[in-house]
Amino acid sequence: MNKPKLKIGVIGVAQMGATRRSQLKKSELFDIVGLYDIDKAALKHAAKADNAIAYNSLDDLLNNPEIEAISINTPIPLHAEQTIKALKAGKHVLVEKPISNNIESAEKMIETARREDKILMVAHNQRFDPAFKFIKENYVDTNKLGKICAIRIVGASSAGLAQPEGAWRTIAELNPAGPLLQCGCHLIDTLMHYFGKIDLSTIQSQMRNDITAGEVVDCISLIAKLDNGVMLTMDEYYTTAYRHEFHIYGTKANIYFYYHRRILKFQECAFGQPETPVDVPVPPLPANEHNIAVVTEFYNAIREHREPRPAPQDALEVLRVVIAADSAAKSR
Ligand SMILES: NC(=O)c1ccc[n+]([C@@H]2O[C@H](COP(=O)([O-])OP(=O)(O)OC[C@H]3O[C@@H](n4cnc5c(N)ncnc54)[C@H](O)[C@@H]3O)[C@@H](O)[C@H]2O)c1
Repeated sequence: MNKPKLKIGVIGVAQMGATRRSQLKKSELFDIVGLYDIDKAALKHAAKADNAIAYNSLDDLLNNPEIEAISINTPIPLHAEQTIKALKAGKHVLVEKPISNNIESAEKMIETARREDKILMVAHNQRFDPAFKFIKENYVDTNKLGKICAIRIVGASSAGLAQPEGAWRTIAELNPAGPLLQCGCHLIDTLMHYFGKIDLSTIQSQMRNDITAGEVVDCISLIAKLDNGVMLTMDEYYTTAYRHEFHIYGTKANIYFYYHRRILKFQECAFGQPETPVDVPVPPLPANEHNIAVVTEFYNAIREHREPRPAPQDALEVLRVVIAADSAAKSR
């Protein structure tokens, strides 16, 4: 049976906004009623594509009483102000990851949602990738890897080399710890959801910012421990070819997940014998299914009037890790 559609407004319609609009429509759970963007050409184009109203101001969009929820897909420094405004206007909010670029404003977002009794969800989509659940349930929980010693994460892309001068991503104050805030936040959320919380007091980091012209850091290496004692190393590079890896090292075996290529390898300790990694079939991720799962969870949390998963507090914890890494690098 078709579920009744929820009327939604979208702020920020291009780039990630275009992706999100397509997922909202594909889910068949939302009716996009109104849109707002400072880019008038993009706004006009999106309004035609979605058969929705193009609003000239954010206030006009929020003043539409028909609209029950808002999807915010604007640059990170705008998340807090726009989210708080939308919540105060009585709307539920799905805001892009990360929650914000500073802890104080993120706490205000969460407090406002609580006070207004509205759902606030941050779109950390990676944890919805079925491969991570598969690895946890089939390799970690079954003890196939033995005692987990360490996790190693690499997230690399060359997007930093293509940033136009003056773009928000190149300004350190707006984008602290750059690639760790924008990209690493996905994996920090997934890691903490499935494998253990990062102990903030253990975070150390090194950052370099002399590769691109912008003032934001280009490359980051972080080391820390999880609350359960597992060692973590995490590298985030914004100036190299695309490569994303999630490796778990245990006393019986290791697992290597190259998640951009959907390759999963299992390597057992053979104590003197060859230890050749073998390929393991990994659950597919058809047509961005994890992103559809995000909007479905937002819909269900609103309808059931319950805390969404991820909870906003989870998103705040991710931000705390990023800010702790930023402070650790600066204090050296
Ligand atoms: N989940 C993912 O995989 C993923 C991928 C990329 C980006 N993101 C997130 O999406 C968000 C947007 O990133 P982006 O790269 O699309 O950003 P962007 O700079 O391309 O801007 C996105 C849209 O917001 C609009 N915009 C800018 N200022 C605005 C304002 N004041 N009011 C209304 N609209 C405004 C822009 O015109 C544009 O249409 C960020 O939070 C980013 O972290 C998520």
